[in-house]
Amino acid sequence: MIKLDITKTAPFVSAETINGYAERVAEAQKALEAGTCPGNDFLGWLHLPSSITPAFLDEIKATAATLRSECDAVVVAGIGGSYLGAKAVIEALSNSFQWLVADGKNPVILFAGNNIGEDYLSELTAYLSGKRFGVINISKSGTTTETALAFRLLKKQCEDQRGKDVARKVIVAITDAKRGAARTCADKEGYKSFVIPDNVGGRFSVLTPVGLLPIAVAGFDIDQLVRGAQDMEKTAAAPFAENPAAQYAATRYALYAAGKKIEILANYQPKLHFIAEWWKQLFGESEGKDGKGIYPASVDLTTDLHSMGQWIQDGERTIFETVISVETPEHELLFPSDDENLDGLNFLAGKRVDEVNKMAELGTQLAHVDGGVPNIRIAIDRLDAYHLGQLIYFFERACGIHCQLLGVNAFNQPGVEAYKKNMFALLGKPGYEKETEAIRNRLK
Ligand code: PA5
Repeated sequence: MIKLDITKTAPFVSAETINGYAERVAEAQKALEAGTCPGNDFLGWLHLPSSITPAFLDEIKATAATLRSECDAVVVAGIGGSYLGAKAVIEALSNSFQWLVADGKNPVILFAGNNIGEDYLSELTAYLSGKRFGVINISKSGTTTETALAFRLLKKQCEDQRGKDVARKVIVAITDAKRGAARTCADKEGYKSFVIPDNVGGRFSVLTPVGLLPIAVAGFDIDQLVRGAQDMEKTAAAPFAENPAAQYAATRYALYAAGKKIEILANYQPKLHFIAEWWKQLFGESEGKDGKGIYPASVDLTTDLHSMGQWIQDGERTIFETVISVETPEHELLFPSDDENLDGLNFLAGKRVDEVNKMAELGTQLAHVDGGVPNIRIAIDRLDAYHLGQLIYFFERACGIHCQLLGVNAFNQPGVEAYKKNMFALLGKPGYEKETEAIRNRLK
């Protein structure tokens, strides 16, 4: 099970202060469970893991098997919550040099629809040229511009290259049951489709087909992922003292109240980079509203100790750090001895690389605490599907609780609309005539 260590926040917020929030955390949990919190029509994630049935996982696996056998590459089109969870889990479980060691057993998984970079899309379509590729088109609203744009290109290319009949087999839609252009298109074309439940928002959807299908297509164990989340869901009812998500939420809240407005999620395994990206979206989009919310940032360590290390150690003291640590790496690699010892590193000979990494982690944590940065440590035993499942639910639950403490609706994202309105006005989208005129006048 996930281990949470908050002892290195003690110089900044006392245990008494954190424990003092136990009652408010209990109320927050009650509001989530009873559905009395703001945004209560989006609480489907709360007991999602335990509601997943073997039959449902079999359906996902069967579709994944079709894509795996029919495609050498599968493009996952989606943005935000319709992309980051799958990307995070796939990156965390893949070989670090996946694109070089690909042995053809698994399709190459690519992502699109998460940007509007012309070079990105041109290079992607060039790479796919002549390849047996398929597409998983993911959009809850079914109308997101970035995703729709990429899907339009990919659909056409897939049909041109593979013919309409095969394209129908290798394009899968994951979208709303009834609404949106992605649903209309899927129904019209007869694509295999999965429904994103109405009551599960994008950033809480990794354990729906949104995350599970791409992860299964990549060849990873979705049974274990779900089992990990189910086991973590069981801890959600535990008393405050034994409840890691409740403790994490209360500690964050205490730090925020003490002026620590930025949380930096640090990892010591490059494979966790996108877990931090997923986490940033989960917390950023859920909390950042009404002038409130901890700003979620991230660093990859020890890499970024040589870029952001100075700032963290010595910059403005409005930050705290949360480290995700993997107790046991998958591989074992020992430092060799060298007769000449020109680099002076023979004192490390025979040690595991991970021992050095762990000492870097501990040394950094102590240095940051000395520098005025409270530290939280979240440890998982291994970087596998089961523990990632735990981590996902742990963060979702903590986020749900923390948003109640802040008094914000965790499940909406009104701020995201502002850029869309301007972009559509600038592009002259039909229906935006008034906004187009206003924005053009503003830019004169
Ligand atoms: O968490 C969210 O709700 C958002 O980040 C969405 O996932 C994102 O905007 C994509 O939306 P859609 O799935 O409707 O294309």
